[in-house]
Amino acid sequence: MKRLMIGTSWKMNKPLSQAMAWCDALATQLPPVLHPAVQPFFIPPFTAIAPVTAFLKAHNLPCLTGAQNMHQDEAGAWTGEISASMIAETGATLVEMGHSERRGAFNETDAAINDKVHTALRHGLRPLVCIGDSGDEKRWGVSVETVVRQMKIALYGLSAEQAKQTLIAYEPIWAIGEHGTPATPEQAAEIHQALRSALCALYGREEGQQISLLYGGSVNLQNCVELVSEDNIDGLFIGRSAWEAAGYCAIVQRVVQDFITKAQ
Ligand code: PGA
Repeated sequence: MKRLMIGTSWKMNKPLSQAMAWCDALATQLPPVLHPAVQPFFIPPFTAIAPVTAFLKAHNLPCLTGAQNMHQDEAGAWTGEISASMIAETGATLVEMGHSERRGAFNETDAAINDKVHTALRHGLRPLVCIGDSGDEKRWGVSVETVVRQMKIALYGLSAEQAKQTLIAYEPIWAIGEHGTPATPEQAAEIHQALRSALCALYGREEGQQISLLYGGSVNLQNCVELVSEDNIDGLFIGRSAWEAAGYCAIVQRVVQDFITKAQ
């Protein structure tokens, strides 16, 4: 079984004091429920990445951390942006890119995401690329084309080795946030199957199978087990349901009890 990536981005939430309170809660609640087949990851706002990463290390918690965005250039006159080397020196090893909130509100394009992927890899960071279809694209029946296109552009120019460092998160826009409707496991599985086929066509069957495909969008305690039970879903990228450490740990516990231990 592939190690399941289960993580959360806090988006623009949790100033440092709240971030550290979350860490304190995690340090007591995660160890009793964690399993080696789960790889936790956390994506705080920029100001909390270094202290959260240091805290996790000091407490021997085997968790990865990442940033929510990164500029594709090495350095320069980009007021308000942050570079790969700045992220790398926080101790983070992941960098999220292409979330629909960034594509929508900050005009992040597929071409820019491809540049970011290359820059991140050059700096030893693993890109976590979000892709997703809108409600209209779903209604028009073009979800598969939409997300396969986004993924192929994001991965353009990568070797199979580099592609294996990259994580893809399918996050249907219609499923994200308070007003979202979670994808059913069948809906998610159909898209993940199409993504897997595209990855195998690009990199060969064996390599394509090794690239992690995460699902995100209204993941919660009720749907987490059904989602990870799908063959091509290798992890969960969670928002609101994991913003309390207790909520995050409850999801990990449920996945371990009702999926991992049963599958072994
Ligand atoms: P949500 O957010 O779980 O709160 O729907 C998911 C996301 O935006 O990644």
